[in-house]
Amino acid sequence: MHQIMSTLKLVISLSVLLAAVQCFEMNMTQYYQMPQLYDFDDYDRCLHEFGKGSGAEGGGNPATYCFVRAEVQPNNSSAAWRAIEEISKYDRHHFDHRQLNFGLCLHKCEEQLVSLDANAMKQLQAGLLTDNAKVNVYLELFATEAGNRARFNELTNACINWRLQQLNFGVQAKSVIEYCDTTATAGKVIEEDDPWNLTVYVVICALILLSCVSSLIDLHLKRHRHDKMLKERDHYKTPPRSLVTRVLLTFSIARNWYRLNQEPNGKIGRELRFLDCFKFFSMFLVIFAHTNWVIYEGAISNPQDPERMLHTAAGTLLISGSLITVTFFVSSGLLLTVSWLAVTRAVEDRKPEKWRLANYVVLFVQINVFRYIRLTVLYAFVLLLSGVYFENAAGPLWRHIFEREQLACRKNWWTNLLYINNFVGTDERCLLQGWYLASDTQSFAVSLLVLMLGHRFGRWSKQIYGIVLGTFMLLPGVLTYALDYYPIFLASPQTQKDSFIGNRQFTEFYTSFQMNFGSYFCGVLAALVYDQLSLKQYKLRELRSFQILWFALIPVGVLWLFTAHPLYQHYYTETPRFWGAIYATVQRNFWSFGLSIFFVGMAAKVGWIFRKFASLPIFRVLGRLTYGAFMVHLLVARVALATVREPIFFGTGTMFAYIFYVLCGSYLSSLVLAIFVELPVSSCLKLMR
Ligand SMILES: *[C@@H]1O[C@H](CO)[C@@H](O)[C@H](O)[C@H]1NC(C)=O
Ligand SMILES: *[C@@H]1O[C@H](CO)[C@@H](O)[C@H](O)[C@H]1NC(C)=O
Ligand SMILES: *[C@@H]1O[C@H](CO)[C@@H](O)[C@H](O)[C@H]1NC(C)=O
Repeated sequence: MHQIMSTLKLVISLSVLLAAVQCFEMNMTQYYQMPQLYDFDDYDRCLHEFGKGSGAEGGGNPATYCFVRAEVQPNNSSAAWRAIEEISKYDRHHFDHRQLNFGLCLHKCEEQLVSLDANAMKQLQAGLLTDNAKVNVYLELFATEAGNRARFNELTNACINWRLQQLNFGVQAKSVIEYCDTTATAGKVIEEDDPWNLTVYVVICALILLSCVSSLIDLHLKRHRHDKMLKERDHYKTPPRSLVTRVLLTFSIARNWYRLNQEPNGKIGRELRFLDCFKFFSMFLVIFAHTNWVIYEGAISNPQDPERMLHTAAGTLLISGSLITVTFFVSSGLLLTVSWLAVTRAVEDRKPEKWRLANYVVLFVQINVFRYIRLTVLYAFVLLLSGVYFENAAGPLWRHIFEREQLACRKNWWTNLLYINNFVGTDERCLLQGWYLASDTQSFAVSLLVLMLGHRFGRWSKQIYGIVLGTFMLLPGVLTYALDYYPIFLASPQTQKDSFIGNRQFTEFYTSFQMNFGSYFCGVLAALVYDQLSLKQYKLRELRSFQILWFALIPVGVLWLFTAHPLYQHYYTETPRFWGAIYATVQRNFWSFGLSIFFVGMAAKVGWIFRKFASLPIFRVLGRLTYGAFMVHLLVARVALATVREPIFFGTGTMFAYIFYVLCGSYLSSLVLAIFVELPVSSCLKLMR
């Protein structure tokens, strides 16, 4: 009863808060006084019409199409500039409307400027854009374009300013070329036979060959099995006896297919089955968010719609959506601890004497190495794929979106494989989602150390865990206060358009180890509690108050997402630093704490139909495919979205069409990866144990 009352109070106070927040109205008259964020000439027409030999005044130049970044310069007497200033100051909700992207067909530019004399041309020069750190990251990646920049920077700047002048904006813009495509390079493979590409071809051929050989051997064995009792399927489900055959069969396609659908074994496996469902739905939300990001990274024709939407409660929900990753951290901590407990018990059963330091060291290294191999083989394969140059349909944005990733991967792949990419090379990220793996790996190692300490000094284990939890729960708040972070992570439209480059909030606040370890450790503690409960055979399910608490967590969780509303929608006024730090402490920590209770409850069979639903067999397969889908989903999203020629209309329908495509594409790719890479590797690891 008490809980219900307090929940009710919370609901009421929150609704009052939500209602009290002012409503934002965009002045659309003013909005259309600004230059558009994107202005692309027709890409295909440019390259075909003015192609080699066909240009009327071509003069032998191949047709050239340049992607240009521009920044509007201040002019207080211009209405356009005042609108830009007014609208861009809501930087948490709006794009930075000073930053414009142009796709310029150089022949068209030349035509437009042909009648101007030298003086008029000089008037159109506003200068080179050199001081924009985010643009400079791109310029450095596309360093091979220096020649095109030197040749065409002045022409493109004059062209841009001519266009701004024609439309009477009364502003000029500095600009710089990011890259140019010519008839000779567009849609071509850049360097077909470089070592990177060759490596990928060799690896793919090797995988296919291994799978074929292994599958044929398996088929052969099945034919020669004179056991009438054994059905087709059972052959593939029973492991062969000799070690050599086992090694030979690791790549067998049929065998791996059945392993994908294998029932979890053991009591713990069955009780934690629901985690697969959480993994899948969290992955869905991650794909949702990241597809939107790639759309923002490209070009949209109606930036005003997402901007206005962010001012509503739905916007708050989207912004709070960054809490999804906590689900992964908590479940990862939980699974680590469950398997750690199983390992220690197995060792203690074998030799019950006291552990020496060497035992711990060996175990620590062993567990980490196994985990490293299990995660890294697939990761490395996707990294290889991300760096491949292949024949593409190009488009003005292709290189901006897709080649940036290829170049970054070729440069920084090693930070990913060392799992330090959340600290090193953060401006040129390869596989942006890899920050999670880095943070998770660091948390894994530290948690394992803490668990070992807890095991070694059993008497003090509670104190040790308590101190670690307390420290890392408070740390986000302390750091937020000391380093003056914004209390929540904001994936604002401009941040996403800039691919999170140079975003301190993302690098230091959101993706770093120290900010996430608290959540991870909540998972660790949840597993310890769950373990104690099942050792003592305590029936949590029969405790009425726990049932109520558990079900109350669902509405409270939804409301918790809205607690960012006053903070996020509170215009202008500085967030009070102290309260901001408090919120930074509780936002993720309460969420992970609640999630831990939720998980323990579900493991203890609380949860009625929610639990039944979450344990459906379909999620077993989807859950197993989630890691692969996580690895490839951005690649899948980029392949489609990087080919857009013109700004796309960002509507609900379009958005969901893309999300659906990315979801299906990622899980299907993940299925292929699982059968050819992931499951063979895990079979090999099993043999090594
Ligand atoms: C909207 O902006 C225009 C142009 O700046 C201005 O004339 C008008 O008064 C504004 N409308 C409102 C409701 O603020
Ligand atoms: C433009 O106006 C803003 C305030 O509206 C002022 O702070 C700034 O100094 C002005 N700039 C120039 C160059 O006049
Ligand atoms: C500033 O704006 C005014 C009014 O639109 C315009 O006459 C003037 O040329 C602009 N100055 C520059 C440097 O663009």
